[in-house]
Amino acid sequence: MPAPPPDARSQRATVREVRPSGSDGVVLILDLDEPVERLRAGRFFMLRRDDALSPAIPRPFSVFRQRADGGLEFLIKTMGPGTRALAACAPGDRLVAVGPLGNGWPVLEATPEQPLIMVAGGIGSAPFHMAIEDALAGVDGAAPASPEALCLVYGGRHEGLLYDLAEFEALGVPVVACTDDGSRGFHGNVVQALEATWERGDLPRAGRILTCGPDPMMRAVVATARAAGLPSWMSLETYMGCGVGICNGCAVPTAQEGPLGSWPFAKCCVDGPVFATDAIDVAAVGH
Ligand SMILES: Cc1cc2nc3c(=O)[nH]c(=O)nc-3n(C[C@H](O)[C@H](O)[C@H](O)COP(=O)(O)OP(=O)(O)OC[C@H]3O[C@@H](n4cnc5c(N)ncnc54)[C@H](O)[C@@H]3O)c2cc1C
Ligand code: FES
Repeated sequence: MPAPPPDARSQRATVREVRPSGSDGVVLILDLDEPVERLRAGRFFMLRRDDALSPAIPRPFSVFRQRADGGLEFLIKTMGPGTRALAACAPGDRLVAVGPLGNGWPVLEATPEQPLIMVAGGIGSAPFHMAIEDALAGVDGAAPASPEALCLVYGGRHEGLLYDLAEFEALGVPVVACTDDGSRGFHGNVVQALEATWERGDLPRAGRILTCGPDPMMRAVVATARAAGLPSWMSLETYMGCGVGICNGCAVPTAQEGPLGSWPFAKCCVDGPVFATDAIDVAAVGH
């Protein structure tokens, strides 16, 4: 039975800085009381304020960046009480932080002929900054990728939902920005932007696809990947209660005969949040 990762623990953290991002988000920078080793991209923490302003149940957030001095950055979109309380933090505020949790993105080699294509929708971009940093640096035995071996397709309904776009562009890899209303970049959704990039010949229709964002977007991205014969992985943002495999609040329907076995559900918190798309019932995700 899957268990929480051995490096996970419940501890306190201090807010170092909060800055706005996009039209409804913040970047929250924390110092953990007990700093953690360099994390694999795509892992997450459960966070809440250590006071009465937060709901009792912490909320899950991907690690956006990990600073050399140990500071952890989270990119947070304001949705409801949990995220509102975190966005209202000031330097010095104390948080409860449970983590690091989850598996993170797989370590994949990438070349310009077999690129790693990352497709993000809105706040689903959060786990991709470190994924790009890791791919460029070469971690866990993978060779460093050249910038042309990577591509980030980053979409939102409007420009204000392309959180920290400049920070992604500063990484030096091709970034295809797109918006539903045409306020920034390609006028259309991420699937249309990816198809247009392929058709222009700016990217070979090859390699692997990683995606994170709203469930309908990810289902469309996986359908596009499958139509092109490309393997894909998705990072799911299910509701979570505990984050450590106890509450069953994060069930993900598995694929019949898939690599996760015959049990009909996996737990997003301990089996994921990143799943190979042949392991889960993609059509049922988010329903
Ligand atoms: C592994 C993982 C990583 C995540 N990483 C990030 C991240 O880096 N940044 C970030 O901003 N968010 C992230 N999320 C989503 C985030 O946890 C939720 O948005 C958060 O729990 C909302 O809490 P809240 O109390 O503010 O809103 P709630 O009161 O819980 O919800 C407010 C409204 O938003 C809707 N909502 C809340 N959560 C979700 C969801 N997951 N999917 C669809 N609708 C939802 C609710 O239906 C409701 O209408 C992640 C989720 C997971 C599982
Ligand atoms: S969030 Fe409790 S089991 Fe996954």
